[in-house]
Amino acid sequence: MHPMLNIAIRAARQAGEIIIRSADSVDTLKITTKSQNDFATDIDKRAEDEIIRILLTAYPDHGILAEESGYTNEGAEYMWIIDPLDGTTNYMHGFPHYAVSIALKKGDSIEQAVIYDPVRQDLFTASRGKGAMLNNRRIRVCRQRKLEGAFLGTGFPFKNSNNIEPYLDIFRDIFTTTSGVRRAGAASLDLAYVAAGKLDGFFEIGLKPWDMAAGILLIQEAGGVVSDFSNNDRYLDSGNIVCANPSMHRVLLDKITPHVNKIID
Ligand code: IPD
Ligand code: CA
Ligand code: CA
Repeated sequence: MHPMLNIAIRAARQAGEIIIRSADSVDTLKITTKSQNDFATDIDKRAEDEIIRILLTAYPDHGILAEESGYTNEGAEYMWIIDPLDGTTNYMHGFPHYAVSIALKKGDSIEQAVIYDPVRQDLFTASRGKGAMLNNRRIRVCRQRKLEGAFLGTGFPFKNSNNIEPYLDIFRDIFTTTSGVRRAGAASLDLAYVAAGKLDGFFEIGLKPWDMAAGILLIQEAGGVVSDFSNNDRYLDSGNIVCANPSMHRVLLDKITPHVNKIID
């Protein structure tokens, strides 16, 4: 295993322990409202501090982009992209679906990825060129080619109300044909589930780099395709992402494309 992935796994597990220790006493969480419907708890911050401490102790020259504290060593060649607790709203309500997400970018290339679900103790990992794993077993995207019968994930555009209408247009065009669409509330796990073939595809508007970075490498290493809504690779900039196996990705893009000009980045 790549030593940098090893360190990232250690950091993710440590953060997971901090998160789980308080999972049964969510009524005592100290909650900060960052913007409408966007929250952080003291546990988000503690988990993030612990991850950064472990990563920078091992690699003091590396940079960090973390959800709660922003950039450290901005401009470094190696940049860790961290969501210490993805699914904070779920966590605050005791809804047991959330994860720690850590990715390592070298220049423009995501090289290492860890998504750790501390509830199920599911560890999703990927190293560029080495495949994607769930609990040390190789994972692959599913083979579903048609929208008929497809089982998809999505997220709601709750931060930018201008995008609700175009989102609902896309949703309407997609969900009536599928066998089901889930909005589970932790984008990193949605992406990990696409990589593991538990979801046939996923799309969301307005994600942040820390929601996506690790999941993107997992999907690519599991044989899937990731793009923005214009079928380009600017998803980390726009926050708009669609991913699936190559056939399903094409099917989803064809449904999204007619509505793209109504979406505001
Ligand atoms: C959120 C979750 C959610 C997605 C939001 C994210 P957070 O992350 O991933 O599924 O729909 O856009 O902000 O705030 O819980 O880390
Ligand atoms: Ca997140
Ligand atoms: Ca978060």
